[in-house]
Parts: sequence; C-alpha cells; structure tokens
Amino acid sequence: MTQTLAYEDAVDLLDADHKAVKKLFIDFNALCEDNAPAEHKQHIARRICQELTVHAQIEEEIFYPQVREAIGDNALMDEALAEHTQAKETIARIQAMDASDEDYDDTVKALGKLIDHHVLEEREQIFLKARNAALDLRGMAPALFARKKQLLSAAKPPASRGKKRAAA
Ligand SMILES: [Fe+2]
Ligand SMILES: [Fe+2]
Repeated sequence: MTQTLAYEDAVDLLDADHKAVKKLFIDFNALCEDNAPAEHKQHIARRICQELTVHAQIEEEIFYPQVREAIGDNALMDEALAEHTQAKETIARIQAMDASDEDYDDTVKALGKLIDHHVLEEREQIFLKARNAALDLRGMAPALFARKKQLLSAAKPPASRGKKRAAA
C-alpha cells in the first residue's frame, strides 16, 4: 500500500475507468466491422463486463453513498442506481450468450450506448456536484483503488491470462 496513487482524487480514478471502458467498446466495434472471429469479440466483451461490474460496485459501495450524503440529491443518485441496474441486466444477458449468437454484437453495442449516457450524466452532474460539495475526494481515492484491485483479483481465474498475445 505504499504505492503512489496515479489518480488525483476519486473522480479522476472513476473517470479513468470510464475512458478505459470506452476504449474497449471502440475496440469491440472495430472487431465487428472487421468481421473478427467470435472469440476475439467475446474476449473484449468479457473484459467490458468485468470492468463495468467492478466499477459499478466500487461506486455503489464507496462513492455514491458519500456523494448522496454530501449533495442531498436523492433523485439524481436514484437515477444513477437505476441505470446501474439496467447495465447489470444487460451485462448478465451478454454473459449468458455465446459470441456467435445473432444478437450478441447488438447487445454489447446497446450496453455501450447505455454506458455512454450514464457516464455523461456522472460527468455533467454527479462529478460536478461532488466536486462542489464538502467531500474529501482525494481521501476517497485510495479506498476506491484498493477495493477495485481486490474485486478484480477475485474475479480473475487463477490461470494466467493475457500472456499469449499483446493487446491488438
Ligand atoms: Fe455509475
Ligand atoms: Fe461511473
């Protein structure tokens, strides 16, 4: 835990997740356009689902409750949670599918649209309000980072992954 955090504060850390997952959606779309094999698409889609699941969980466990308390806007926070629920339902559908299924690509793309909308709302409303509130966003970053690491390592199968090929 002596590691220096690469993020300025909680918002910075969460928005870095948003950017990383956006890049994965762009990669997924490019694979669709190239008619890439289903397994390549599935590999990216699995990462998208995993990253988003962990991201939503750290927001719900750590960030959202503190923001809700500080900004006192329950409607805004309830809407964000409803969007998380919608995203989780779509993630569950994707995880239950095979990448060769006819509507696999469209379902992943639909998740991408949902997330675009949600991220916009976080950036334009929740993050702004959080930054204007009396909240220790800097102090919150290490907890988010530690929980994220813990959840990601719990989600990873023990067999090493990502050794075979460098990211395309
Ligand atoms: Fe969120
Ligand atoms: Fe988020």
